[in-house]
Amino acid sequence: MDVEAIRKDIPLYQQEARPTYLDSACQSLRPRPVVEAMNEYYYDFPACGERSVHRLATEVSIHLDEAREDVATFVGVLDPECIIFTKNATESMNLVAKGFPFRKGERVITTDMEHNSNHVPWVMLRERIGLERAVVPFSELEEGNLEPLKEELEKGARLVSMVHTNNVDGSTIPLKEVVELVHDHGALVMGDGCQTAPHNPLDLRDMDVDLYAWSMHKMLGPSGVGVLYGKREVLEQIEPLVTGGGAVSITSYDSATLLPIPEKFEAGLQNYAGIIGSGAAVRYLRKVGMEEVPEHEHRLNRVLTEELSGVEQLSRLGPEDPDRRGGIFSFNLKGMLPHDVAMIVDEIGGFLIRSGMHCVHPYFTSRGLEGCARASFYIYNDEEEMRKFAAAVRYLAENFAD
Ligand SMILES: Cc1ncc(COP(=O)(O)O)c(C=O)c1O
Repeated sequence: MDVEAIRKDIPLYQQEARPTYLDSACQSLRPRPVVEAMNEYYYDFPACGERSVHRLATEVSIHLDEAREDVATFVGVLDPECIIFTKNATESMNLVAKGFPFRKGERVITTDMEHNSNHVPWVMLRERIGLERAVVPFSELEEGNLEPLKEELEKGARLVSMVHTNNVDGSTIPLKEVVELVHDHGALVMGDGCQTAPHNPLDLRDMDVDLYAWSMHKMLGPSGVGVLYGKREVLEQIEPLVTGGGAVSITSYDSATLLPIPEKFEAGLQNYAGIIGSGAAVRYLRKVGMEEVPEHEHRLNRVLTEELSGVEQLSRLGPEDPDRRGGIFSFNLKGMLPHDVAMIVDEIGGFLIRSGMHCVHPYFTSRGLEGCARASFYIYNDEEEMRKFAAAVRYLAENFAD
């Protein structure tokens, strides 16, 4: 991977006294072609797509169709109409939770490492319609032990909704095997791909997953664009979260006929610039070569792990093997709060990392942990940054930790 060439496209890397950005699991940096694609919308055809029929509107519609096709191709989906644009992965998963025809007493199975966006909707549905929820250990699935999931499936389930790669330690479950097992038990699978789609080549058709949600802002795309993929027959069963203009073919004073997918889920004027920028983001990633991304991140994770090995005050989260932690290195320093770690590494060396519970509260609170510090990297980071960051963490360990 040509990191230097990528950096030439990233505005932050042109700043002289730039910080070192290690917070890509939260939101990635954006290359110029993505920003330019959005500007092109605002400068050249700043109109309303898919409604008006004038020439600028037609141009918007053509760009939106292209973006949908490019996003579909990027994840191995043949039918672009099965790609729904939302405002983030949280909305994508809420759309499913709130619109799926669940009945009282039906069960949903998740892991114990779900982001709040795949946790809170189920808590609320338990209160509202008596939906039951079972939780299986993520780490067992990650190690290839599907028994706990099988036991829960045997008790009955309508949907299994699981994070594919968790945002705490970066490890990944074998989703294709999970899907096979779940289908054998007559249930459906939704994958939370927020931390997978940016970092791995994906073939959702081959994986046979029924629903899959992710956010574009973690993969070089603009803020405020999420995606929901669903099999056509599954999306057709789901009620839209928001309804109104653009999502209906005709209405009368007492009826409304919804349009087919994807329009039925995309009511109201859309984030045109964001969707067009999302198309540019996946085209950029395709040019970089998604096959090269995991190896690049594993290399960085190996370097960081090696540089910080032997630091007694440091406890790392996740599997021992750095190759199983993707682009995430999460840790605690004995006697230090994660937020203090994050603030001090920024103060002393300009390292921008995330700290806290990373919206996975039950995982931490059930273990009596305050959270952790998390460095996360992407295609623009390099080994030198890992070494410098490791030196800063060593300094903290020696001077501030117990
Ligand atoms: C695994 C995972 N799921 C869901 C989300 C929520 O994404 P968004 O805030 O874009 O809706 C995140 C964001 O950090 C995440 O990492």
